[in-house]
Amino acid sequence: MTGAAAASRPRVTLDTLARLKAAGEPIVMVTAYDHPGARAADAAGVDVVLVGDSAAMTVLGYDSTVPVSVEEMLMLTAAVRRGLTVPLLVADLPFGSYEASDEQAVRTAQRFVKEAGADAVKMERGGSTVDRVRAVVAAGIPVMGHVGLTPQSIGALSGYRSQGRTAEAALGVREAALALQEAGCFALVFEAIPAEATAAIMPGMSVPVIGIGAGAQTDGQVLVFHDLLGIEEGQHARFVKRYADVGAATVAGISAYADEVRAGVYPAPEHAYPMAEGEADRLHAMLGR
Ligand code: KIV
Repeated sequence: MTGAAAASRPRVTLDTLARLKAAGEPIVMVTAYDHPGARAADAAGVDVVLVGDSAAMTVLGYDSTVPVSVEEMLMLTAAVRRGLTVPLLVADLPFGSYEASDEQAVRTAQRFVKEAGADAVKMERGGSTVDRVRAVVAAGIPVMGHVGLTPQSIGALSGYRSQGRTAEAALGVREAALALQEAGCFALVFEAIPAEATAAIMPGMSVPVIGIGAGAQTDGQVLVFHDLLGIEEGQHARFVKRYADVGAATVAGISAYADEVRAGVYPAPEHAYPMAEGEADRLHAMLGR
């Protein structure tokens, strides 16, 4: 979809997502962390853009999502807002910014809506998050839940591993998902859950479920921008599919630039600004040359 085509689409709302689920039409979500990324996602015609706290690792260089701050996430979310016209904009509430109390959760969620222009916020886990979700929804802010592998709890989960691999564990994921749905989440992310477990949980889900590493039974899919575009080399999760090799193209482009600067090929005459007619001669005369 081109930028012009995207501009003619109606803005995606919570109702749009509910309609897509009811019609059995897949919902497409992608993360973005800056203005050019948002413009690209918008032009590509996705339904939802998530400013994920994966930003901590993809663009800020932290080694997990845990250290990213509210201020950092607000700045990224505001940049994405300025680049979006059609997709729904969801922002992750970072670790430590919502768990302590309902008041803390509402105050943080309000900042993302008021200061950064988010349409909705996302919070991880079931458990005590269920009450936080209820409070934020009651304050008028739409909430997306997130169950399965929840990277903010990576310590408690003993690492980045799929969740719900036994029948009991799958029931635990189901219980969290149903509680978040009952608390008012308009949609949920299912991350790194075996496809059979997802299939068993889906019949109870009346709100849209967006999967990442959760099989093909969900109502939509989400991938991290840098993963799907191949921006970073190295290890990636089993569920990642690369649709481009932007990382290699980026290094090749910068190398070609460096080579041309070192060889004196760049800049060529066409990259330089001319002075007004006769002004170079006058300048030389003034300099006594
Ligand atoms: O932070 C993130 O990018 C996410 C997605 C993986 C769903 O939470």
